[in-house]
Amino acid sequence: MKDLSVKVAGVTFPNPVIAASGTYGFGEDYAPLYPLNKLGGISCKGTTMNEKPGNIPPRIAETTAGMLNAVGLQNPGVEVFVNKYLPELKKQGNVIIANVAGATLEDYRNIAERLDSTDVDMIELNISCPNVKQGGATWGTSCEGASTVTKAVRAATKKPIMVKLTPNVTNVVEIAKAVEAEGADCLSLINTLLGMRIDIRTKRPILHNNVGGFSGPAIFPVAVRMVWQVANAVDIDVVGMGGISTAEDAIEMMMAGAKAVQMGTAIFTDPYSPLKVIDGIEKYMIENNIENLSEITGSVKPW
Ligand SMILES: Cc1cc2nc3c(=O)[nH]c(=O)nc-3n(C[C@H](O)[C@H](O)[C@H](O)COP(=O)(O)O)c2cc1C
Repeated sequence: MKDLSVKVAGVTFPNPVIAASGTYGFGEDYAPLYPLNKLGGISCKGTTMNEKPGNIPPRIAETTAGMLNAVGLQNPGVEVFVNKYLPELKKQGNVIIANVAGATLEDYRNIAERLDSTDVDMIELNISCPNVKQGGATWGTSCEGASTVTKAVRAATKKPIMVKLTPNVTNVVEIAKAVEAEGADCLSLINTLLGMRIDIRTKRPILHNNVGGFSGPAIFPVAVRMVWQVANAVDIDVVGMGGISTAEDAIEMMMAGAKAVQMGTAIFTDPYSPLKVIDGIEKYMIENNIENLSEITGSVKPW
């Protein structure tokens, strides 16, 4: 038995495989399948201040080696998360990351304040949401927007903050540095890429929202590239995600510079895939005489 534990922003995860936000709900559909504490941690469904019903269907479209979604942050609101789901999750002994989404700066600040006095281990900031007061521009696509949210949340909570970066930018490194400067404790990336599919018989976009987030194995190389660029540019910890479905993918992502990984879309195809990835990482450690996963993180040897 190898020690697979990793420390991210001072929080110890029993292994480096975390369920990605929006793909695991609050664990309720998976708890009947296996003890949730087999995972390294769970990033919960994006939580807004009040309940959100989400977008009109169709909200999901298949793509080659991936999927598009425009679920629209359907969630029960922060109070239901704190009072109903969080106690259940903590009972199972998991490291719990609350994923926070906001339409305004006040939303982010208020949710962070509410979470500060709870048992959540970490707050992940989804900055891929539209800023309603700025004509719907995504917070995380400008240094100013990304750092404004990070600064406000930093002032509202002592919990470790993980800022989740969007890949829909020209220069992900400058955004990473901007949020690091405002007190982010660690970074996670990548969120979904913006995509679109059209039904050629009806000429209608397949998603009612017209466009949606692209995820799954097809985006893996983009994610590895961005994690590598960001991990080389910041001093804080980086958690990598985007298309990971095998232990080899997870190890590759760690070699690019990630201390831990998140898995999302792969869980839809196989709910047991995170457990298989954890086993595969341990096997790789045994075969390669690795005692600690820090030996893998950032070990890529660029040409
Ligand atoms: C159906 C669905 C819902 C998602 N909801 C959220 C969310 O609420 N908050 C968030 O930060 N990311 C959300 N994501 C993005 C994922 O957490 C992840 O960043 C992305 O899917 C890339 O990883 P993957 O290819 O392993 O799925 C969602 C993704 C999917 C597919």
